[in-house]
Amino acid sequence: MSRLSVVFGGSRGIGRAVAGLLAQRGQRVVVISRNQEAAQATAVALPGADHVALSCDVSKEQEVQKTFEAIQKNYGTMRYLVNAAGINRDGLLLRTRPNDIVSVLHTNLLGSMLTCRAALRSMLGQGGAIVNIGSVVGMKGNAGQCAYSASKAGLEGFTRSLAKEVASRNVRVNLVAPGFIRTDMTAGLEQEEAGGGGAGGGGGGGAHTRIPLGRFGEPEEVAQAVLFLLESPYITGQVLLVDGGLQLAL
Ligand SMILES: NC(=O)c1ccc[n+]([C@@H]2O[C@H](COP(=O)([O-])OP(=O)(O)OC[C@H]3O[C@@H](n4cnc5c(N)ncnc54)[C@H](OP(=O)(O)O)[C@@H]3O)[C@@H](O)[C@H]2O)c1
Repeated sequence: MSRLSVVFGGSRGIGRAVAGLLAQRGQRVVVISRNQEAAQATAVALPGADHVALSCDVSKEQEVQKTFEAIQKNYGTMRYLVNAAGINRDGLLLRTRPNDIVSVLHTNLLGSMLTCRAALRSMLGQGGAIVNIGSVVGMKGNAGQCAYSASKAGLEGFTRSLAKEVASRNVRVNLVAPGFIRTDMTAGLEQEEAGGGGAGGGGGGGAHTRIPLGRFGEPEEVAQAVLFLLESPYITGQVLLVDGGLQLAL
């Protein structure tokens, strides 16, 4: 079985934490982000010696295609794919520029669809597992996050559908839906003041008081759930919330 794992959005935040856990499990990790230097810095800091850093914008089909061709040619067939690349452009819909809506959908939804499609070319032969990173906001919605919420809800439907398409070929596809996680994406949010669904932004009112566990999550705590789904041979088409109980409170 291949020990190659590919993590999109692996340079920072949740993706970097996933890359770290996979490296600890003996995987050779391909860390991918638009910023090559940041991906490289993460790759060299991982446990183990033979990790790889690549630059790719997931919203661009040709870049994704070329990236997977390079991975297949230079590093072989992958076992695990994690889609943690994502952006937010929060704001009320009427104040959101169409270009920003397109960017969010292209990165968060289309990007993951393109990477899954490219990965399947090799995974269908030997099996494998994919985890997409969604959001609680995709499940419940949040004022000020229409585009982001739509992208994550779409990703959930995509994950469930793809899981049904490829299960017979021993490829599993699951989704982790985080709540508020402490990363660059939420760096501007004051825990005392932030509100409404987390997952990269929000509207009004007291996030920490709405999280039953009373704090933001850490990227490593999401990574644990990602690893669990990657390694669980009888789970596919599922959504696993990692939100400190936030969903209960929404
Ligand atoms: N933090 C939260 O509270 C939270 C909650 C729920 C869900 N999520 C989701 O979890 C995922 C990771 O978020 P995070 O908080 O870890 O964010 P982050 O710290 O901002 O990291 C985002 C990562 O995605 C990469 N990226 C962004 N756009 C990309 C593109 N077009 N092509 C390739 N890579 C791209 C970034 O690198 P470059 O900028 O160099 O490309 C970076 O590695 C996202 O899908 C996010 O929506 C986060």
